[in-house]
Amino acid sequence: MTTTIAIASGKGGVGKTTISVNLSMCLALQNKETLLLDADLGMANSHILLGINPKLSLDDFVTGKSSLNEIITTTKDKLKFISGGSAINNLLNLSDLERHKIIQSFSDIKIAPEYMFIDVGAGAEASSMTFMASSDKVVIVLTCEPTSFIDAYSLIKAAFIDYKLTNFGIIINMAVSQSQAKINFNKFQSITQKFLDVNLKYLGHVSNSQRIRNSIVTRVPLMSKNMKNADTKYFDDISEQLTSLNENKTGTIRFFGN
Ligand SMILES: Nc1ncnc2c1ncn2[C@@H]1O[C@H](COP(=O)(O)OP(=O)(O)OP(=O)(O)O)[C@@H](O)[C@H]1O
Ligand SMILES: [Mg+2]
Repeated sequence: MTTTIAIASGKGGVGKTTISVNLSMCLALQNKETLLLDADLGMANSHILLGINPKLSLDDFVTGKSSLNEIITTTKDKLKFISGGSAINNLLNLSDLERHKIIQSFSDIKIAPEYMFIDVGAGAEASSMTFMASSDKVVIVLTCEPTSFIDAYSLIKAAFIDYKLTNFGIIINMAVSQSQAKINFNKFQSITQKFLDVNLKYLGHVSNSQRIRNSIVTRVPLMSKNMKNADTKYFDDISEQLTSLNENKTGTIRFFGN
């Protein structure tokens, strides 16, 4: 059985792709079969961080040129990957039916990953909300800025009201220290839970790190094989916390028919 985990945020540019790529590599390197779906449709860039150039993407699936099995690539670190494509016209304006077709088609793929991470676009756009509601677990990435707080609150509110999602994992990215991250999580939790009947679980933080910035520029992911440093530990710790994050059970269509 596959556990699907959506990585979302209210505000753009807070580190969803960095976190999706490194968390999925972290689990793949532990020999857990892991699939990363770049669902930032039309604006996909996970492949850039992974340092690969897949020939096929979701665009080829949506336009009927390829099956879902054909667009899955495997990286040298054994991560399975589906690129989101950059054909903005095809992918940005998907209908509900097309989105549902993508989600349903995962029940037919030949691999049975233990984990699937979904890097979804920022904000409460229809595609992002559908992918969040179709996943078992939802993680929201926050930075310690008021704009990130406000947008994350709006996203959680929309997910709660429109899809009855109640369980959210929170990662604080680009934090100055662990204590600053925790203080910000507590602040965000107290504001959110004052107005919404949702459960927020702190999954951990990732520091503001030059090593992470360099990994993006050089297109060599931080979590590549045999890389161990102070920053890889953030992803090891978060991947452990993920197991105890509660799932959401929505009535909508779900990946792998879960
Ligand atoms: N922990 C970190 N330390 C330092 N820089 C970081 C960190 N995480 C992300 N960044 C920087 O922030 C930029 C944006 O990160 P990323 O692309 O992962 O965000 P995103 O939320 O996926 O953005 P988008 O909403 O555009 O998809 C990166 O190019 C990188 O330079
Ligand atoms: Mg991104």
